[in-house]
Amino acid sequence: MHFSFAAADAAKARADVLVFPLFETDLTDKKSPPRALLSVDKKTRGLLFKTAIGEGFKGKADQTFVFQSHGKVPAARVIFVGLGARAKFTAEILRLAAGRAVKTATRLKAKTASVQLPVVRELDQAIKAVIEGFELGAYRYDRWKTQNKDEKNAPRLDKVQLHLPEGVKKEKAHDAVLAHARLVGEATNWARDLVNEPAGTMTPTILTEEAKAMAKEVGLNIAIGDRKKITELKMGMFLGVARGSVEEPRLVQLSYIPRDPEAAKRAPVCFVGKAITFDSGGLSLKPSDGMLDMKTDMAGSAAVLGAMKVIAHMHPNFPVHAFFGACENMPAGNAYRLGDVLVSRLGKTVEITNTDAEGRLVLGDVLAYANELKPAAIIDLATLTGACIIALGNYIAGAFGGDDQLFYDVSESARLAGEELWRLPVTEFQRDVLKSEVADMKNAGDRAGGAISAALFLKEFVGETPWIHLDIAGPSQSPKERGYFNKGATGYGVRLLVEFIARRTQQLNATA
Ligand code: BES
Ligand code: MN
Ligand code: ZN
Repeated sequence: MHFSFAAADAAKARADVLVFPLFETDLTDKKSPPRALLSVDKKTRGLLFKTAIGEGFKGKADQTFVFQSHGKVPAARVIFVGLGARAKFTAEILRLAAGRAVKTATRLKAKTASVQLPVVRELDQAIKAVIEGFELGAYRYDRWKTQNKDEKNAPRLDKVQLHLPEGVKKEKAHDAVLAHARLVGEATNWARDLVNEPAGTMTPTILTEEAKAMAKEVGLNIAIGDRKKITELKMGMFLGVARGSVEEPRLVQLSYIPRDPEAAKRAPVCFVGKAITFDSGGLSLKPSDGMLDMKTDMAGSAAVLGAMKVIAHMHPNFPVHAFFGACENMPAGNAYRLGDVLVSRLGKTVEITNTDAEGRLVLGDVLAYANELKPAAIIDLATLTGACIIALGNYIAGAFGGDDQLFYDVSESARLAGEELWRLPVTEFQRDVLKSEVADMKNAGDRAGGAISAALFLKEFVGETPWIHLDIAGPSQSPKERGYFNKGATGYGVRLLVEFIARRTQQLNATA
């Protein structure tokens, strides 16, 4: 999608659709709406407002209204998207509204759009939200559809002009915001593609090839380990999970190292993503219903890949590494068994009481490996437990970890990025559910507090390093079309990780 800032008044914009994001008061208070809108309304002799109000459009945060302009203004159609009450405004509300606008425009077969940016306190955030909302809202995954050619060849919205609020002069900095937001949107859509792709065509090898191509494109270092390397590294838990699949496992490390030698010496930030390309449950086989969506069990790795793709362009003033251990979890004659004891890279031994608790095993070894870089912080993202979906639903990630400062930074990043998370406790006294009679611990506890037990397990492998674990089993997938989302992969995590790195770069610059 191509974005640019328009010099002309929005009322004069020649586009298939002219989009106005509107607050509730914009329809009732004559002083409130953007002047361009008043002039469009005037050209329609007041029919625009009259129709909108007549159709029940009140500027509520989930409302959309379409008006055919019949040549009264150059744009063929005018679209209103509601932003709700001004007092409750957030950039995320605008992002969702922009997503609705692009979906509506696409249904109308529009190819070009002009958008009037609303008057809000933080214009940069608004520009970013509109661009991300358009980019994300235009996403569709139809690579395997061959029959409905009309649907597939439907025109795509590909040119978007942004109109700055009246009286605001265009600055160079606006272009930088635009370019960054576009990168974030594109990288998130790429992450969605990786997750939506069926497991048969998104194997550990293919996922690694994708990572390699991306690293080459944006200039990141990449190290790829095969089964032999994983064996040499004594990642016994990772190997145990990988054993039952004919697909070869891969250990991947992507690295951004700053050019400045002083910056390069700083303690890195490490991201770790879960990358089970298919989770059948192994011998603790999932029922069909529970297995159906398990191509998405690599969403954590897709999120860190998407984020690294953007971060490579941001040139942070400290190193950033992303790790994932990719494999399938399959039942087979040589699969790891219940009752087996696996020896982790750290030397801790684990009794397998459920082969469907595989994510924590792979993550444990990879987290321990990442921790060897003595990072300033580790953030892992994993579609780790169904229990976290039961606790927080389909839209909110569970955030675990005892470091309050790091939690605050991650949580602020999520808020600024428009991604939701909620802190859950790493309840130490629950640790006894992981006690084993034969080994140092077992890999699965009971049903009660299942997301917490999983976090307690991971905690064994990060030592004292500040660490946040995000259980993204819920928000990695959207159960329905909503705002800029379709049903399916959301790319959850890309935006918050990018924001985290942006904030940390600023913080380090401020103290340097
Ligand atoms: N990948 C699943 C978790 C999951 C479930 C993600 C549903 C997305 C949607 C994970 O590997 C798993 O199977 N977890 C088990 C753990 C249990 C066996 C301790 C679970 O949540 O049931
Ligand atoms: Mn599982
Ligand atoms: Zn899993």
